[in-house]
Amino acid sequence: MTFYNWAIRPLLFRVDPERIHHLTMLTSARFGRSAGIRSALANLYAPDDPRLRVSLAGLDFSSPIGLGAGFDKNGEAAAVTSRLGFGFVEVGSVSEMPSPGNEARPRLWRLTEDEALRVHYGCPSDGAYVVFARLRAQKFPVPLGINLVETNTGTPTSAEHAAEELGRTIGRFLDVADYIALNLSCPNIPRGAGGLFDEASQLGNLLRVCARHSNLPPVFLKITPPGAPDDPRFIDSVLEAVAPFAFVKGFILNIPNRQPYETLRTPRAALDATRGGITGPSLFEPTKMALRAWYARIDRSQHILIGVGGIRSAEDAYEFMMSGASLVQVYTALIYQGPGLSARLNRGLVRLMERDGLTNIAQAIGAHARP
Ligand SMILES: Cc1cc2nc3c(=O)[nH]c(=O)nc-3n(C[C@H](O)[C@H](O)[C@H](O)COP(=O)(O)O)c2cc1C
Repeated sequence: MTFYNWAIRPLLFRVDPERIHHLTMLTSARFGRSAGIRSALANLYAPDDPRLRVSLAGLDFSSPIGLGAGFDKNGEAAAVTSRLGFGFVEVGSVSEMPSPGNEARPRLWRLTEDEALRVHYGCPSDGAYVVFARLRAQKFPVPLGINLVETNTGTPTSAEHAAEELGRTIGRFLDVADYIALNLSCPNIPRGAGGLFDEASQLGNLLRVCARHSNLPPVFLKITPPGAPDDPRFIDSVLEAVAPFAFVKGFILNIPNRQPYETLRTPRAALDATRGGITGPSLFEPTKMALRAWYARIDRSQHILIGVGGIRSAEDAYEFMMSGASLVQVYTALIYQGPGLSARLNRGLVRLMERDGLTNIAQAIGAHARP
């Protein structure tokens, strides 16, 4: 058991999760302003094993393990999170205009029996202008992704409107983002049924709008398949829609848990008292299935997959990579395991590579899919 799990987590978990998160952001912002703390963190945690280095989509990663979107929605903590041993960090989701997100509280719950979280934030954001101003003066030791979403105004928007908005918001971040992730899958924004860009024609329109910028960094699409995670018709429709747009370099598959009663230990009554998207280990198996299905169909010279959903251990990260992910992200495990998580995952990955005789982590990518 780590010191975090034994001494710190019990204290943090006594307080409302959104409040603790807010305090974590304030503390990180303060720590991040100190050059001494920044370099101490880097010395303590930075991935330093050359076998973990990968170059993908024109970017160099010191480890394939990144921090997923949602932890640092407003770029307050990036000076700290980028020195915790992650190979890349994703800030956001950021929307063009400031938004308080969903009004009803609480809107974040811990489902401790499942090491999960339940989220009904509805993409609160300080807005693109403020987040850009916060990030622009800083230099980060690892690639910085900016995850964008349409502004949650409390009423549903149209795909055309959201496309124009996302196109403008990308423009704001061209100078700071090493990559852009378009969050086409936020489950908590009022939208009616399904995602705004599930239809290939709407996705094509969004990408045409983005293509007005001539100097785009790599763009990854964070997508929730509307049906089964491995539905080949949906995969092919997305691949067809993105084919004309070379700036799309890959996909982050966001597979929801649509059967919480059947898959979680948390009692039904406790689940009924919460709402929103479920994160954590219950996403692991369906996401693995999705990764395999997408990996079988993508053109690997054009696109990569980023695996996120329920990773708790190096074994989990390795399995996602063997299933086709070139990079992976974690979020919920950071809440349950604390800031030593990424360094532990990095060390574990090296051990697994040594066990399997790999000399670089890239050799693991899609290994399960090879004959
Ligand atoms: C509290 C919370 C807020 C999140 N906010 C965002 C977000 O703003 N944008 C986004 O793309 N994903 C968001 N996510 C989803 C995570 O990036 C990730 O896809 C998901 O949590 C599954 O990974 P995990 O099981 O490792 O947490 C959020 C997740 C959590 C727990």
